[in-house]
Amino acid sequence: MNAVVVRATPESVPRLVASATSLFAEDGALRDPWMDLTWPHREGPAYYADLAHRSDSLCLLALSAAGSAIGHLIGRTRRADPLRPGAVVGALESMRVDPAHRGTGVGTALADEFFAWAREFGANQVSVTAYATNDSAIRFYRGRGFTPFELALHAPV
Ligand SMILES: CC(C)(COP(=O)(O)OP(=O)(O)OC[C@H]1O[C@@H](n2cnc3c(N)ncnc32)[C@H](O)[C@@H]1OP(=O)(O)O)[C@@H](O)C(=O)NCCC(=O)NCCS
Repeated sequence: MNAVVVRATPESVPRLVASATSLFAEDGALRDPWMDLTWPHREGPAYYADLAHRSDSLCLLALSAAGSAIGHLIGRTRRADPLRPGAVVGALESMRVDPAHRGTGVGTALADEFFAWAREFGANQVSVTAYATNDSAIRFYRGRGFTPFELALHAPV
């Protein structure tokens, strides 16, 4: 892998927004007819600027040797759930690697940082959701130790 993983700063928020925009376009747009594809452009700058300086969140960028952003990962701490009092959960909210750099270990490097962050804040479980049709992402997550836990079922009405 010829890339480095860094924490996003407020200055790098536009790069996070660009990567999230691409993720919406290649994932949500294909798999969810209700996905608001204007969200990253409209709300993304404020949303990621807020996350980038919060201590309870993780905003990572993967940078190529030339310094361009080739991937991102967002981690969030989950609020304590009174129904699961012992669970301390770190959620992998979103991640993406540019197609040209996939399969070279960039996603693994981002996920490794996420696991380290989760351990650091005392998480005893991490979670991620993926569209059921996103086979390659599910394969990637399984390869990093995630296993199915809950299943969301939808039906049109
Ligand atoms: C899922 C994703 C982040 C993985 O990133 P990556 O940089 O390709 O991952 P790595 O190179 O570190 O890991 C490759 C592993 O994932 C698998 N993989 C998943 N998608 C792959 C792809 N498109 N190309 C190559 N390998 C892929 C490989 O089989 C490999 O498995 P291994 O660990 O057994 O060797 C990336 O494919 C991606 O951005 N996908 C589109 C966006 C997306 O679906 N995001 C997740 C939304 S829930």
